[in-house]
Amino acid sequence: MTKITTCIFDAYGTLFDVNAAARTLAGSGGRADFAAVWAQVSADWRHKQLQYTWLRAITGDHCDFWQVTQDGLDWALERAKLDDPELRQALLGLYWTLAAYPEAPAVLRALQAAGLNRAILSNGSPAMLEAAVTSAGLGDLLDAVISVEDVGVFKPHARIYDLVGARFGCTPDQVLFVSANGWDAASAAAYGFHTLWINRAGDPVDRLPGRPESVAGDLSAVPNILGV
Ligand code: LAC
Repeated sequence: MTKITTCIFDAYGTLFDVNAAARTLAGSGGRADFAAVWAQVSADWRHKQLQYTWLRAITGDHCDFWQVTQDGLDWALERAKLDDPELRQALLGLYWTLAAYPEAPAVLRALQAAGLNRAILSNGSPAMLEAAVTSAGLGDLLDAVISVEDVGVFKPHARIYDLVGARFGCTPDQVLFVSANGWDAASAAAYGFHTLWINRAGDPVDRLPGRPESVAGDLSAVPNILGV
């Protein structure tokens, strides 16, 4: 097997907890109506946000991830009958500082110590990613934060995965691609990367042409898989 030189992480759902915005607001007190439905709103928000990325990639009607993040939230809030501009603004604000999963910094540090390239490859806009990376304190642990905005189409378009080779001068089989999004891991596997699917919820594997090479419950498996 070719030696893996480069470890690439998806951002939202993989390094950053996309439910943290709604959970934080629900737990902050004073919003009983939202606290009763936050988990459904958060799930709908994420689902619609992703659907809109796929649909816009197919139709060629690209906008940035901030737009689909707002559009997905608007759909989710309307479904929950929560017509509340302040609530909307609070949730969107929190999306810029989503918590990283607790094991993420130590994993990145281990890969850094082993001399591996470490980067994010994400649908997120450069500004969103910079804010999330900075607020989670991950900036010094990453060599690059690569956004789909460099190309102008969302994952899983192959031109997005091409950005890894362009940045690091590596071949796909020198890359371990880590994503908690099953469809992203499957697509990256079909592209030719080694892949690790972070399956925190114990979900079934996606029925897509590519299959993730390995599966783990959280990010702490990454150093082991890379033998560092
Ligand atoms: C990302 C999406 C898939 O960060 O969550 O690219």
